[in-house]
Amino acid sequence: MIGGKKDLLGLEYLSRQEIELILKTAKPMKELFTRTVKKAPALRGKTVVNLFYEPSTRTRVSFELAAKRLSADTVNISTSASSVVKGESLIDTAKTIQALGADTVIMRHPYSGAPELMSRHISCSVINAGDGTHEHPTQGLLDLFTIMEEKGRLEGLKVGIAGDILHSRVARSNIWGLIKTGAEVCVIAPATLIPPRIQELGVGVYNRIEDIIPELDVINILRIQKERQKELLFPSLGEYSFVFGIDSDKLRKSKKDLLIMHPGPMNRGVEVSSTVADSPASAVSRQVTNGVAVRMAVLYLLSGGAENEDAS
Ligand code: NCD
Repeated sequence: MIGGKKDLLGLEYLSRQEIELILKTAKPMKELFTRTVKKAPALRGKTVVNLFYEPSTRTRVSFELAAKRLSADTVNISTSASSVVKGESLIDTAKTIQALGADTVIMRHPYSGAPELMSRHISCSVINAGDGTHEHPTQGLLDLFTIMEEKGRLEGLKVGIAGDILHSRVARSNIWGLIKTGAEVCVIAPATLIPPRIQELGVGVYNRIEDIIPELDVINILRIQKERQKELLFPSLGEYSFVFGIDSDKLRKSKKDLLIMHPGPMNRGVEVSSTVADSPASAVSRQVTNGVAVRMAVLYLLSGGAENEDAS
């Protein structure tokens, strides 16, 4: 349980204390990675099901590794090879998975709200691994964890989120998580890629990175999500890259210790240049490593975590 809830559906629904508990729990999980035997028995006997209705490499593998490192049994269901192609409804799929004995379902879906719908029909935990343009809470948490690790704090930092904010569930989870933990957030994108009324979440809005770069401690660069764009929101990828893509030139006036992040997958040469993505200031690979630790923490806490250990 996290804050009395069996599911993790979004950072919007967590308190600052709950977010901080997950980040704190992820630390000893990460320490496990340096041991020869990178495994702990916390989820022995539990079954974790990965149910992905959208392509994913890093998130699916990260969850699978996280579950395996906690000694759970893992099952991967890819929807092209399941009854979903035969027309089974989401709720029937949920009930089938529950009847097969799953304890936790990790779900990615192209529709916002699908994991929430599933969570209402089954008693096992549901973890949202990205739903449409809504939230991707474990990505938000791993981004927070990475910033904490690199900067030692979240409170008072100025974090810019640049790129396709309109279609990004990563942006929404980052905004909720960062604001709740005391960071200052601004989004940077062409006007057509900024969701209406985003200011109401308490974020600053900028169209040009050049206008805000000197103030930023962290820049999180997001992918242009071509697959979600139903209309042309900028003239061409080349144009986007020229005006909004983050390259060394646009970072010229940044703080010396600016931290560069990207959730991946990257469109090199579009939203970010290779020089920036591969620079020493880039935490991209460390974000991937931290993702496993944060997901272990979430699986551990949702499965009863410390409560179970106390009882045994
Ligand atoms: C993100 C996603 O799927 O929302 N990727 C990820 O989980 N690593 C971001 C993206 O697809 O651009």
